[in-house]
Amino acid sequence: MTELILSLDVLDKTEACAIAKSCAPYIDAIKVGYPLVLATGLSIVRDLADLGLPLIADFKVADIPNTNRLICEAVFSAGFDAVIAHGFVGPDAARTCVEVAHSHGGAAYIVAEMSHPGATEFFHGGVAERIAELAVAVRADGIIAPATRPERIVRLREIIGKKTIYSPGVGAQGGDPDAVARLVDGIIVGRSIYAAEDPAAEAERLSRIRR
Ligand code: C5P
Repeated sequence: MTELILSLDVLDKTEACAIAKSCAPYIDAIKVGYPLVLATGLSIVRDLADLGLPLIADFKVADIPNTNRLICEAVFSAGFDAVIAHGFVGPDAARTCVEVAHSHGGAAYIVAEMSHPGATEFFHGGVAERIAELAVAVRADGIIAPATRPERIVRLREIIGKKTIYSPGVGAQGGDPDAVARLVDGIIVGRSIYAAEDPAAEAERLSRIRR
């Protein structure tokens, strides 16, 4: 069963908690990124933890190994269950994120290719494939691959085998959940859910079409 991960990119704590609570019966995890944490502070993690769902820190960590270690220690100490990190920084820096995640019993996912149009400028031409290879080499738990380009997911799957693929870009960015859900382990959905008139109804709808 493909997971449904809510990307909670709203800026108000009360709204974030209300949306998360109403969607909780239909989702498998919540992804929290800079917008929500910068607007509300890291304490939002404790507020969301009450729902009992895994919390994924989408900080796209991309620094030198020591700084990556400090960031990831803070992420897991705050109560997150997983972190998303960039792979283009190289194996030592990416491996640090994986090691910190695993030392906390958590998971680390490496961005292999982003979902927006401009991502093709640098990720195409073999780079995404090399990052996927790196994700395998550093023992990451999986990769992030674009729902906006299902053919790229298929290609990256050839490299990472059974490792997890989480895929953002469904809905607002144009990705088709029906086409993507059967290719990945989880679809990441933000605006289509949290900006809907009835977020819970949209989450419920997406939870039914995922494979
Ligand atoms: O609102 P929408 O469904 O487009 O949100 C997608 C979420 O996934 C955003 O938080 C975005 O930052 C994130 N993301 C992405 N593409 C990636 C990695 C993360 O869209 N490759």
